[in-house]
Amino acid sequence: MAVADYTEKIPNNVDLSEDRRLQRALESWQPNFLNWWESMGPALPTRDVYLRTAVDVGREGWAQFDHVPMRDYRWGIFLAERDRDRRVAFGQHMGEPAWQQVPGEYRADLRRLIVIQGDTEPASVEQQRNLGATAPSLYDLRNLFQVNVEEGRHLWAMVYLLHAYFGRDGREEAEELLRRNSGSQESPRILGAFNEETPDWLSFFMFTYFTDRDGKYQLGTLKESAFDPLSRTCEFMLKEESHHMFVGTTGIDRVVERTARLMVEHDTDDIGPYGAIPLTVIQKYLNFHYSVSLDLFGSETSSNVAKYFTTGLKGRWSEERRTDDHRLTDDAMMVDAVTEDGEIGQAEVSALVGLNTDLRRAYIADCQNGVNRWNKILEGTGLPQRLRLPHIAFNRRVGAFARIEATPDGELISAEEWARRKGGWLPTDVDKTHVRSLMLPVHERGKIAAWIAPPRQGINGKPFDYDYVHLP
Ligand SMILES: [Fe+2]
Ligand SMILES: [Fe+2]
Repeated sequence: MAVADYTEKIPNNVDLSEDRRLQRALESWQPNFLNWWESMGPALPTRDVYLRTAVDVGREGWAQFDHVPMRDYRWGIFLAERDRDRRVAFGQHMGEPAWQQVPGEYRADLRRLIVIQGDTEPASVEQQRNLGATAPSLYDLRNLFQVNVEEGRHLWAMVYLLHAYFGRDGREEAEELLRRNSGSQESPRILGAFNEETPDWLSFFMFTYFTDRDGKYQLGTLKESAFDPLSRTCEFMLKEESHHMFVGTTGIDRVVERTARLMVEHDTDDIGPYGAIPLTVIQKYLNFHYSVSLDLFGSETSSNVAKYFTTGLKGRWSEERRTDDHRLTDDAMMVDAVTEDGEIGQAEVSALVGLNTDLRRAYIADCQNGVNRWNKILEGTGLPQRLRLPHIAFNRRVGAFARIEATPDGELISAEEWARRKGGWLPTDVDKTHVRSLMLPVHERGKIAAWIAPPRQGINGKPFDYDYVHLP
């Protein structure tokens, strides 16, 4: 597969110049995208940023690093290499050749899946728009912008599919993706977590750890799709996505490290006065971002998702590594539920209907790895405190637990008790105000804000004190 031609208006590895109609359609969407980026993308003015740009999808050199003025960033269209022998790996079409076109009967469902995924990409850019003004270091500022340009590219990835395979409806959906906005009253983003604010850097790290990780699992199911162009798009997006989660994982590492060090140094849990974030506040932010991200997986049972699986539109996480029959027509599974007597429990359902639960469980296990890692940092400083994931029923607004309230331990409580106690589990206005008060920009080379430890390593082998961003 050829290296993308960066002299083209829209760099791509899909032979765009051979389809003039499609090329013209995308070139007419491009100025709208750039207008959106100018008005809704990163607000902090910069001269240039040390960014990686995808140039081809091969194992070597798919990413090139350079200082780039952000408005000159080249958002391209990249699909992973085509496997000409690829076959559908699950559902009723299992064993048939993967589809190179959209079958008419699945057109509406596939379009919907692509639109929902596409909607999250620009949403996160909008949520993170103002963070540049309070970056704790140039290194962090650079990582923020890297995540932002790649989410912009992920929007391009979905818009390419809409334009290339869904005709006029697809073009209209592509316009809508720029018209909806995160948190807007009239036309909000489709999914709840993408209408929440990301007002500070602790939220940003939690978002990239927990919510980008939801993205990883959703992309993982779409990567299995029988519709091959969707599969190939998601495969490449997943490579970029791993950097976003790295930003979250190591960001929280560094906050925990700084907090723990001050706790030990001053022999107190109350390190707010020392300009850092108390561990209890970190736990509350974790509780919030984890629980709203669990909601993104949808209801415990879903007949739509059963249909998507059966028809081959969307597979399971690691579909090909599973050892069952990949059809699941006769299988059952247990899902989380509120029992008839109103208790938190489990219910047996057909495996097909429970696929959201299956995916959410893989996600939860993955989230636990981060918590273990942060607890190792606490342990290393000799502190007895630990972080943890709250119970699956805690603070849920979607699915079986939306109607009940539960403590982080999974104890069922009344609505009144919830209202009285939730400030102990979720960030209060006082917590948020404290965190925001720490968010003073450090835009000086090699310097770092007081509430976070410096990273162990820089980006692409550069040191921490590298000039990652040039400000005007
Ligand atoms: Fe993304
Ligand atoms: Fe992401």
